[in-house]
Amino acid sequence: MNKPHDLSLSLIDDEDHNTSNNPSFQSVLTARLSRRNVLRGSLGTAVTGMLSAVSLSACGGGDDPAPAPAPAPAPAPAPAAKPLEKLNFAAVAKSLEDKVVVPAGYTATVLFALGDPITAAATAYKNDGSDGDFESRAGDHHDGMEYYGLSADGKADLKASDRGLLVINHEATSHAGTERASAFVHLTGGTNTLPRPAAEVDREVPLHGLSVVEVKKTGTAFGYVKDSAFNRRITPLTPVLLSGVAAGSGLMKTKYAIDGKTARGTLNNCGTGTTPWGTTLTGEENWSGYFTRGAADDAARANDKSVTSLKRYGRNQGAASRHGWETGGADDKYARWDISKKGASADGSDDYRNELNTFGYLVEIDAYNKAAAIKKRTSLGRFAHESAAFSKLVEGKPLAVYMGDDSRGEYIYKWVSEAAWAAADATAADRIATGDKYLDKGKLFVAKFNADGSGEWVELSINNAAIKAATNYSFADQADVVVNARLAADAVGATKMDRPEWCAAHPTTGEVYFTLTNNSNRTAATVDAANPRFYEDTKGTATKQSGNVNGHIIRVAEVNGEAAAATFKWDVYLFGSEAGADKSLVNLSSLTDDQDMSSPDGLWFSRATGVCWIQTDDGAYTDKTNCMMLAGIPGKVGDGEKKTLSYAGGKTVDTYVGKAPTADTLKRFLVGPVDCELTGCAETPDGKALFVNIQHPGETISSANAADASKYLSQWPSNAGYGAGKRPRSATIVITKNDGGVIGS
Ligand code: FEO
Ligand code: CA
Ligand code: CA
Ligand code: CA
Repeated sequence: MNKPHDLSLSLIDDEDHNTSNNPSFQSVLTARLSRRNVLRGSLGTAVTGMLSAVSLSACGGGDDPAPAPAPAPAPAPAPAAKPLEKLNFAAVAKSLEDKVVVPAGYTATVLFALGDPITAAATAYKNDGSDGDFESRAGDHHDGMEYYGLSADGKADLKASDRGLLVINHEATSHAGTERASAFVHLTGGTNTLPRPAAEVDREVPLHGLSVVEVKKTGTAFGYVKDSAFNRRITPLTPVLLSGVAAGSGLMKTKYAIDGKTARGTLNNCGTGTTPWGTTLTGEENWSGYFTRGAADDAARANDKSVTSLKRYGRNQGAASRHGWETGGADDKYARWDISKKGASADGSDDYRNELNTFGYLVEIDAYNKAAAIKKRTSLGRFAHESAAFSKLVEGKPLAVYMGDDSRGEYIYKWVSEAAWAAADATAADRIATGDKYLDKGKLFVAKFNADGSGEWVELSINNAAIKAATNYSFADQADVVVNARLAADAVGATKMDRPEWCAAHPTTGEVYFTLTNNSNRTAATVDAANPRFYEDTKGTATKQSGNVNGHIIRVAEVNGEAAAATFKWDVYLFGSEAGADKSLVNLSSLTDDQDMSSPDGLWFSRATGVCWIQTDDGAYTDKTNCMMLAGIPGKVGDGEKKTLSYAGGKTVDTYVGKAPTADTLKRFLVGPVDCELTGCAETPDGKALFVNIQHPGETISSANAADASKYLSQWPSNAGYGAGKRPRSATIVITKNDGGVIGS
């Protein structure tokens, strides 16, 4: 969700806790606008036929023999990209309709929605708040997603396009502002007062986590396989292992795991990445807000350094939890949501004071193998993770993983493996052991963007003099550095960015693109070369929004293309903007009506075509259009020009703007239904099916209105003919070209 535009969430907002004096710091909070206070669009209910392709296959077949989920043979490498030089579809117009709009000649079909059953025994989703058992159903708020091919006989085959597994993040659940209940999954909207009934908590917790679900093509239509033996849910209660430098650290000791080596579940899974060896990395993003901390907890902790850490990660004492799950009962599974120091132990082994340290990682999952361990890769740092993008692989050289921390004024990170890449590892049978090799030992870096278009990676090491000398936090060891990566990055003077969301690596150039979604805190006083815009924008008739309202996409080229390079060049691929905005300060990429967008978030490159898919999670331009997805064919760093932006008082800032897109190289491809965001993108290796997630259509709902369809902002996907009930549902859709061709061609 895009909280900076959302004042109503301020009590649980875990963004913007960067009070360091690094570049771009400013202490004046700009007014935040509540998108929930502005009604957008209408409840268009017409079914246009665009999604009438919803068919029986979308409900999954029950007659396929279930494949064995045993460890499968190693996958084959995916085919090399054949880059498109021109986008061959007609751009779709901005839209406020409650439907999915795709270009002429394309069909979007609902595939897998909130509540859909994933076991033979689970019943069809009634979608009236009476369904429970979400361990056996799709979770909520579908987000990042990856596809892994299966051969006809159910073996791992990364080249397979007719059958595969989708790994889908379920980030969060729809609830209004400070209301606690997930409105749409309870009969009458649920209980917002404390204590929360245990039965409601037990229903809401497994709405989070991930789904692994088999999808299969029958004729030309994709459906999911309801009773596939590969299907499973991973939730905030699933046992996981801590791996890497912080595993076993005293910082990780909890009542659940006194050895600090295991943890319970994964939470607020946002972006994803796929590893070269065929596993998924899922990013834990806004996990902090799910935990409560007692009003006198600073003193209970004797104001030790854990208090500094908790504040930096968004948990001041007295912080309320998002859903009040800690009040579900005496059982440990509820108690763990209260991270106050309660026990008498010195090390935290008798309470959950350290529980927050077990969240905030990239978590590795092997979709093919239910028996494989799920591992939190702690060495890559703890923050609000989005996606993970890998460098181009070079035999005998280390690999890099790029990452963003999504909060206002947070940083961009890079991991460089100690191990040199061995191509044979792409087909290793034990994929999680391969993850151990590349993701547990190595170096973590943070980015500094310089005014001259260069940049540097600063190592976050316990041996770094600036980290050793930090005065606000005394780092004990490398485990402390990675668990408190934000504090370490503060100490080395990393560049504060305009909310780093997803990153993705260009399949041929290897350059890495990062969406910087927006930043309501950016001011004229704090603009810098890499975050150069501050401006005001009107939404509707009355509301003014300011800062970097529409976001931008920055890209990085490592010197000599080396994953382990210490320095890089950067420029801005695109600045989000309204087409009509001032081209000297706002619409710096000269976007047209077919290209204009706001708050780029999801970002993903097709391996089949090289197309850069850009997805928006916006609250700024939503008076004119719902969130959308665009296709781009980018050039490379340095293909544009330097531009000088002028601010009041004579201040100027130089920035580097990539070559302006043309009508052939950037086009709007899709607009989603009302009150949704577009996120998550995956394709079949042949490039002929594109999977996309529609997250939280109509999320703006008070629980009091949960049973009143006339109050819903969206009724998608039921208004597109999918499923029972009218409550809106997050869902995966699959997009195909009617002529059976490659998407975008
Ligand atoms: Fe879950 Fe920052 O998006
Ligand atoms: Ca977002
Ligand atoms: Ca506007
Ligand atoms: Ca996102």
